[in-house]
Amino acid sequence: MKFPPSLLDEIRARLPVSDVVGRKVKLRRQGREFIGLSPFNAEKSPSFTVNDQKGFYHCFSSGKHGDIFRFLMETEGLSFPEAVERLAGEAGVPMPKPDRHAEQRERERAGLADVMEAAAAFFEASLRQPEGREARDYLVNRGLDDQTCKRFRIGYASGGRYALKEHLGKLGIANEAMAKAGLLITGSDIAVPFDRFRDRVIFPITDLRNRVIAFGGRALRSDQQPKYLNSPETELFHKGRVLFNMAAARRAAQEKATVIVAEGYMDVVALTRAGFGNSVAPLGTALTEDQLALLWRVADEPVLCFDGDAAGLRAAFRAADLAMPHLQAGKSLRFALLPEGSDPDDLVREAGAAALAEVIDRARPLADMLWTREVEATPLDTPERRAAFEKRLAETIGRIPDVRVRRHYGELFRDRLAEFFGRRADRDRGGRAGGWTGGGRHGNDRRGGGRAPWQRGADRAAAGASAGFSGQGGGGRASSDLVRRLASARQALPRREAILLLTLLNHPELLTERAEAVAHMELSHRDLDRLRGALLDIAAHHDCDPADARKRLVAKGHGDLVDRLESLWTGAGRAEWWVAPDTATVDAERAWDHTAALHHKLVTLHRELKAAEMALQAEPSDENLARLYDIQAQLANAEGTEALMDGFGQASGRPMRAF
Ligand code: UTP
Ligand code: MN
Repeated sequence: MKFPPSLLDEIRARLPVSDVVGRKVKLRRQGREFIGLSPFNAEKSPSFTVNDQKGFYHCFSSGKHGDIFRFLMETEGLSFPEAVERLAGEAGVPMPKPDRHAEQRERERAGLADVMEAAAAFFEASLRQPEGREARDYLVNRGLDDQTCKRFRIGYASGGRYALKEHLGKLGIANEAMAKAGLLITGSDIAVPFDRFRDRVIFPITDLRNRVIAFGGRALRSDQQPKYLNSPETELFHKGRVLFNMAAARRAAQEKATVIVAEGYMDVVALTRAGFGNSVAPLGTALTEDQLALLWRVADEPVLCFDGDAAGLRAAFRAADLAMPHLQAGKSLRFALLPEGSDPDDLVREAGAAALAEVIDRARPLADMLWTREVEATPLDTPERRAAFEKRLAETIGRIPDVRVRRHYGELFRDRLAEFFGRRADRDRGGRAGGWTGGGRHGNDRRGGGRAPWQRGADRAAAGASAGFSGQGGGGRASSDLVRRLASARQALPRREAILLLTLLNHPELLTERAEAVAHMELSHRDLDRLRGALLDIAAHHDCDPADARKRLVAKGHGDLVDRLESLWTGAGRAEWWVAPDTATVDAERAWDHTAALHHKLVTLHRELKAAEMALQAEPSDENLARLYDIQAQLANAEGTEALMDGFGQASGRPMRAF
């Protein structure tokens, strides 16, 4: 059938391409688009782009191009009507009368849903029959009253091999339909298919419209294995896309403004009894991306409830990692950690509903969890371990594609780092004595006292700047530096140096790890040297929000210079792409390191070249000539590298972008 364009538009309007594509392809934001590895071709560098404004994806490697419907057709082999149907369901857009094919499938599915409904009703009734006696006792023992059982439609599958099969047969349901609904155990080696669920307490699993699509069967005794037996994947049931109790929780979540995710059926039952009807559980597997998306459609900050033991923490971190690439402004997770060894069900039974409510109330933000994980990963008693810790934090932040969220994570972690090492330093010093390395044995560190590493860098730079030197070298060279600096006062800004500083200005977060390198960087221009001092100073004392850094520099009278840096960069077409504030920190960092290393090499070689020329003048030996040639060759080589880097930047966009 032909779908009305208005219907397709409506679906497109509700589902950003990046959402639909993002489930298959790891996307990261790049300006207005998203970019990722092509799902159509194996490739190492990303050539697949998604543009939400335009509503299209485009794959440069395969030339494939299309919208959300096309994408499902291409990647999941759906027909167009199927893709429309699926996405309409996700978008909550009602479908017009379906065509014959879809009608047929829908009838089949509705047929299966009817079979499941009949089975659920049968299980419910069985619980109230004499044969359900043991199951009733079991449920009472676990604290479930009749009202709760009704609310969740809890039932009982009797021990008979053919109880359900015969019952459904009497209702005119074909064996084939029962098998398709996952209710029978079948197979080439099984002559007479029989009931899958036998002698178990039954938890019906429903879809968003509260139709029964699967069952979970709880063993009554510990010798029965497995403890829970679930429906297999069927036409109706895809366990990775479903959450137990979601239909009811969705309604309750409106009022509670959040949704709680527990680990099991009984936990959801316990949470509901404790007043949290807004709770759901995955079906015996770790949370999936589909489930996360479902949760975020219901609440901005779902609360994940885990055991407070090692396994629970592992599960929590797995969920955190799953969420990182999908964080959006306002969309996050919170984590409620239960007392060790108890699940919500145990806690309600042992300590009451209020105890559970308190645990939920005290749920910690995702940022806290991530911070804690890195803090506790290794001891932080040496500079190297602390550096590794900082690096891990940076890597964590780097996994957030959303620019704003990433920036705020950067700010938060930077503040915490400053505070954390500040406090540690106080403690390590045990009062006033010594430097932060412990005993102040390293002469270099003494000046830093108890300050964080980047603050020590700032001290040194400030000392250098106020004396008019770069702060490295004394005696004769210092005075020639000074001359050079004075001479360069009215010269154009040296490009490489300007780019290095502008990168730091746009990514002040780099300053924390690179304060030493920045402080020691050779800058040939006096203005740039002043700017460096101001930047380090800001990094040492304030937040490192780029906007903020800029404001402070302007306030300190560096506004003109900042503008000059900016126009020097934009004037040449922003060849050095990594300079931009919205570049991922990891990328900016890498490019900065390359450029700084190259800068150092070139400065050193130029100095050596001068020295070699003078040596050759003073003593024209073969040896001195050879030295001169050697340095010239090295210089040509290094300058070639620089040209190459710039060339790449201009020609093909972002070749160094790490993926
Ligand atoms: P748990 O072992 O934590 O069970 O499994 P539970 O929910 O606390 O249940 P009780 O209190 O022992 O009755 C958590 C979830 O993992 C799935 C089920 O979805 C269960 O609710 N599971 C567990 C299975 O699918 N199969 C199993 O054998 C065990
Ligand atoms: Mn339990």
